[in-house]
Amino acid sequence: DDPEKLAAFQARIDAGEKIEPKDWMPEGYRKTLIRQIGQHAHSEIVGQLPEGNWITRAPTLERKQILLAKVQDEAGHGLYLYCAAETLGVSRDELTEMLLSGKMKYSSIFSYPTLTWADMGAVGWLVDGAAIMNQVPLQRTSFGPYSRAMIRICKEESFHQRQGYDIMMKMASGTPEQKRMAQDALNRFWYPSLMMFGPSDKDSVHSSQSMAWKIKMNTNDELRQKFVDQTVPQAEYLGLTVPDPDLKWNDETGHYDFSEPDWTEFFEVLSGNGPCSAERLEARNKAWDDGAWVREGMLAHAEKKRALKTA
Ligand code: ACO
Repeated sequence: DDPEKLAAFQARIDAGEKIEPKDWMPEGYRKTLIRQIGQHAHSEIVGQLPEGNWITRAPTLERKQILLAKVQDEAGHGLYLYCAAETLGVSRDELTEMLLSGKMKYSSIFSYPTLTWADMGAVGWLVDGAAIMNQVPLQRTSFGPYSRAMIRICKEESFHQRQGYDIMMKMASGTPEQKRMAQDALNRFWYPSLMMFGPSDKDSVHSSQSMAWKIKMNTNDELRQKFVDQTVPQAEYLGLTVPDPDLKWNDETGHYDFSEPDWTEFFEVLSGNGPCSAERLEARNKAWDDGAWVREGMLAHAEKKRALKTA
């Protein structure tokens, strides 16, 4: 890239201007955005699976309606994000193929199973809580279509987080068996939620360039710390115990000290060896294959209409 163009581009970013799809941008900026927005979109789509698993088993009609609406919202988030990525010159089909072949990642969290109804609470509270912590700053990201998609997504995510916490409140103040289920869900989802923010800063290959370009607004460790600080008092309010014996408030730093997740497990999940990794990709591949007749029908219909118009 021409150094003068690069400097002018960086000056726009530094001045807080939004970059729009038709503006000049360095190839690296475009590639990083396609990778991050694409991965984010895939996460929304794959993220429907662990919760979709409980729609038919929700304990009441009301809980079922809420869960159904939430899972549909996630589909919508995936679609806005694919549209934002498409403005960078990649098609939704290309992105989908990269997900289905395992070439592109989706968030590690969705490779974990949802074993009980309390997991619906933990997913809403912790997973959507971690997602908002990461996404609120992304509303100010430098790429216009991504930042605008984030504004709507964050509004919906905050409803998702509250519905999760509401399930946790019901479970934690219910029968001893329900409280045990709530604690068990927190035990299983705590560290995987901390992993959502990505590897520790020293192992984050993309952070410094992405932050200079304002594609990312914070480092992985900054957001992880903010999440812990926000979530520990919420666990206390529920009367539940965060599964970290070393967790404690530090007066000097004004933050909680906490144990790092098991990074070996994280990198295993990233390489496709998470507990549900194979199952998730299988489900997405099956949905894509099962939908082939719809895509073919739509194309045939469009072709017929085009032929009629030109006749
Ligand atoms: N799950 C899967 N892969 C991850 C995760 C994770 N939790 N965290 C990091 N990675 C991957 C990165 O994609 C990168 O791999 P790649 O080069 O093959 O793409 C590698 O690990 C190194 O990490 P970083 O250099 O720290 O990567 P990056 O700067 O992209 O930061 C982060 C990762 C924080 C997830 C960033 O991409 C981001 O903010 N994305 C947007 C939000 C998002 O995707 N959320 C999805 C989950 S929330 C939800 O959908 C409900």
